[in-house]
Amino acid sequence: MDNKRYAVAIDGPSGAGKSTLAKAAAAELGILYVDTGAIYRTIGLYACRREADPHDLAAIITLLPDIQVSMAYGEDGLQRMLLNGEDVTDVIRRPEISRWASVVSAIPEVRAFLLEMQRELARSHSVVMDGRDIGTVVLPQAEVKIFLTASPEIRAQRRMKELEQRGTPQPYNQVLSDILQRDWADSHRETAPLRQAEDALLLDTSHLDFDQSREALLHMIKERIGW
Ligand code: DC
Repeated sequence: MDNKRYAVAIDGPSGAGKSTLAKAAAAELGILYVDTGAIYRTIGLYACRREADPHDLAAIITLLPDIQVSMAYGEDGLQRMLLNGEDVTDVIRRPEISRWASVVSAIPEVRAFLLEMQRELARSHSVVMDGRDIGTVVLPQAEVKIFLTASPEIRAQRRMKELEQRGTPQPYNQVLSDILQRDWADSHRETAPLRQAEDALLLDTSHLDFDQSREALLHMIKERIGW
């Protein structure tokens, strides 16, 4: 690639394999991977720890000035999340924090609080950034936009395996119902709802394995940036 900065925006519902695929694409392209869901999860963790009421959005907003979210990149190139200096990379993956992330991410003030942080990363680096509103709101000028999805049932199966591997297994019906609930919340909120940008390419991985999905994604990216 030449010295120009590139932004690859990858959006889609939870469990579509966005982060694993985006991470693999960034490694192949030799550019920074930014998982924006992890940023919302970090805010959600703080609200959870402060025993906030998930229905009292005004109270959650008052917590924001106490929160310092930052990212660090290990030697392995992987993103680590820091909440007021504490490494919370693993704890933010817990299912209750997924629910909290969905709550806090629907609050416009929380989104505004995080917007500039995400844009600054893309100003200073070439990035593959994944989330829900990257192509539509955060980086509308991104060179490549991809909407990555898979059927809710396939996503639930994949998420189940992931939870098992983490030692926090959950029954299929619970995982599927969580996914449907989050899909609904993420795509029906007023601010920056999940939707495919008009100029985004659609990649449905329901019937693709990991290697096929990765190849399809890289092919789309390289074709768009002429690499
Ligand atoms: O991708 P994830 O499951 O880690 O995201 C956690 C939550 O954050 C999810 O409910 C959607 C929300 N999110 C968002 O609203 N905007 C983003 N750019 C990324 C995530």
